[in-house]
Amino acid sequence: MEQKIKELRKRAGDAIKNSASNLKELDEVRVKFLGKKGELTGLLRGMSQLSAEERPKIGKIVNEARAEIEQLIAEKNSQLKAAELQKKLASEKIDVTLPGRKVHDGHLHPLTLTLNRVKEIFMSMGYSVEEGPEVETDYYNFEALNLPKDHPARDMQDSFYITEEILLRTQTSPVQARTMERHKNSEPIRIIAPGRVYRRDDYDASHSPMFTQVEGLVIDKGISFADLKGTLEDFSKKIFGEKTKIRLRPSFFPFTEPSAEVDVSCVMCHGEGCKVCQGTGWLEILGAGMVHPDVLKMSGYDPEKVSGFAFGMGIERIAMLSYGLDDMRLLYDNDVRFLKQF
Ligand code: PHE
Repeated sequence: MEQKIKELRKRAGDAIKNSASNLKELDEVRVKFLGKKGELTGLLRGMSQLSAEERPKIGKIVNEARAEIEQLIAEKNSQLKAAELQKKLASEKIDVTLPGRKVHDGHLHPLTLTLNRVKEIFMSMGYSVEEGPEVETDYYNFEALNLPKDHPARDMQDSFYITEEILLRTQTSPVQARTMERHKNSEPIRIIAPGRVYRRDDYDASHSPMFTQVEGLVIDKGISFADLKGTLEDFSKKIFGEKTKIRLRPSFFPFTEPSAEVDVSCVMCHGEGCKVCQGTGWLEILGAGMVHPDVLKMSGYDPEKVSGFAFGMGIERIAMLSYGLDDMRLLYDNDVRFLKQF
């Protein structure tokens, strides 16, 4: 009997140590040795055959064996539980050193950046910013600018009409008339007027039916053509660089007299002649001139007392030249691969 118990102790010990690799298997081992139908219980049952002297002795050994096995099971149980917890922790581990996912910030469009730069330059010269409606009347878009109904120069700016009298403005020049009317001959004017304009143009590398202009208007006593030239020269140097030169070519606009088209020395080749300037060394950037006396009169100013100049430039063109873009459509297509570069 003693021998049997000893042997059972050893087997139970081995089973707990070696074959129980998880909590379920450990419980099976427990049932096998300590359960109601387990081996140790079986041995206890056999005690009835023992003599009265032997019984307490064997009983003691059996109880010791049970205590020992229970102890071993308890130890193994906590070992297995700890291992399982470790495993769980490892599988649920979060790598806190992994960089977070970046939220992409938007930023200003290259056209807006260019417009802001143009505004900044003129504001630093003391200009203020005016705005006018994009849906404009025939009167402000044409008539107040010396383009009566049958004037042939209207053809150059064939447009989108809403009614006979209302259209999408073809230029920012109507803001000239609107601003002069508001000031009513009472004070000098020094404004720029940025905004969208519309013409019935094709959509290709250098045209769009919608584009952006900045108008300029200065009115005061004794404003001369030299003031216009100096202002445009200053502006051109600020936007394209100190080395930039300007050139004025005679031109025609019904609302300015004399009128000029203004070129800057090529921003790519600085006048040498290249593909961008088509070998001429010059790039046209705007139209300008001295405000026509009739335009002053129509808007309530006295051409005998004051004079002024006006200019109008295309912002897309300025953006293309300053960023070296060869296709205007890049500015409207909203391709992030392009926009990301600014
Ligand atoms: N409004 C003219 C255009 O769009 C440009 C311009 C503005 C010319 C002011 C002279 C003075 O072509």
